[in-house]
Amino acid sequence: MKSFISKSLADTEKLASEIAIQLKKGDFLALYGEMGAGKTAFVRGLISAIMPECLSLVHSPTFAIVNEYEGNELTIYHFDLYRIKSEDDLYSTGFYDYPASECIMITEWSELFEGAIPQNAIKVKIEILSDNERRFMVC
Ligand SMILES: Nc1ncnc2c1ncn2[C@@H]1O[C@H](COP(=O)(O)OP(=O)(O)O)[C@@H](O)[C@H]1O
Ligand SMILES: [Mg+2]
Repeated sequence: MKSFISKSLADTEKLASEIAIQLKKGDFLALYGEMGAGKTAFVRGLISAIMPECLSLVHSPTFAIVNEYEGNELTIYHFDLYRIKSEDDLYSTGFYDYPASECIMITEWSELFEGAIPQNAIKVKIEILSDNERRFMVC
């Protein structure tokens, strides 16, 4: 496990870009942390590093449940599990039908459906330390 302290939104975006460049097709990135922790900010940093053509599409997919970023070489599915109420609901969203081996999957609020997170997922846990400080744990 690696731990990082971010002191600003810019720090978080930089950390995300460093992780982003190591990602490859088939990876699953599970984000953890409460409201306002910086999960969506992290995704924005990640997309800006590897798929800048999709940056304008990044927002919290709370209502849509999933955003699709179709880049030139890669597709990323960005889920927000916050509003999903049950395993059945999750199943109905088609979560298990996405071509996970052909794309990158990202989930916000992964703690709500730990059973749906693959064992080999890259886990990014974010803790709010103060208004502008966050602790990131990556494992
Ligand atoms: N170090 C930091 N890293 C990330 N976001 C930060 C940081 N400091 C302050 N913020 C603020 O926290 C909020 C994070 O929001 P967001 O990324 O939407 O969170 P989440 O998706 O986890 O609910 C933003 O308003 C951002 O400006
Ligand atoms: Mg969010």
